[in-house]
Amino acid sequence: MADNITRLAVFCSGTGSNFRALHEAIHERELPAEIVLCVSNRPQCGAFEFAEEKGVETLHLSERQFGSFEEFEEAMLRALKARGIGLVLLAGYMRKVPDAVVAAYADRILNVHPALLPKFGGEGMYGIRVHTAVIAAGESESGATVHLVNKEYDKGRILLQRTVPVLPGDTPESLAGRVLACEHLLYPDALEQLLAGEP
Ligand code: GRF
Repeated sequence: MADNITRLAVFCSGTGSNFRALHEAIHERELPAEIVLCVSNRPQCGAFEFAEEKGVETLHLSERQFGSFEEFEEAMLRALKARGIGLVLLAGYMRKVPDAVVAAYADRILNVHPALLPKFGGEGMYGIRVHTAVIAAGESESGATVHLVNKEYDKGRILLQRTVPVLPGDTPESLAGRVLACEHLLYPDALEQLLAGEP
């Protein structure tokens, strides 16, 4: 494989629709990157099904498999290093990335959040709760954010954001669908920007 190809790991917990969007965009846009590993805290998930379909290695990693948290984070770090992973993309990963991994991959872990950070972020602000809070706050727009991951939930540097309107009569579910479609466009754009060395 050419030296300029960045080896990517995606971390997922669910359906993996962002993983799909990223995988597709990498091929369509001929980005200098390849997703070589899909990590999940769940042994069975849509993301793993997609990975298997595309020949991407899957790795189930959960704290429960280890005697201590330290062993878990060491195993995660070893797995990434052993595969020469250059960039980690969190795509619907519902766990906090261990601090040792965040430290080893400083500025090389990205996350997509389904709101316009810094609003509607932080611990406990995930999934449908985010959209419920946005509607309850009477916001006229929401959107998606791709940001770098640091030790605090949703606090790393923002790389890219894109807005969607909150429409009259929106339910958390209808807003979630609009935001998810936005994430699928935004995440590949942010990846492309990062790979091009843009800030
Ligand atoms: C997305 O809204 C993402 O922001 C969140 O999980 C949702 C779905 O993820 N954290 P996916 O369909 O598994 O990519």
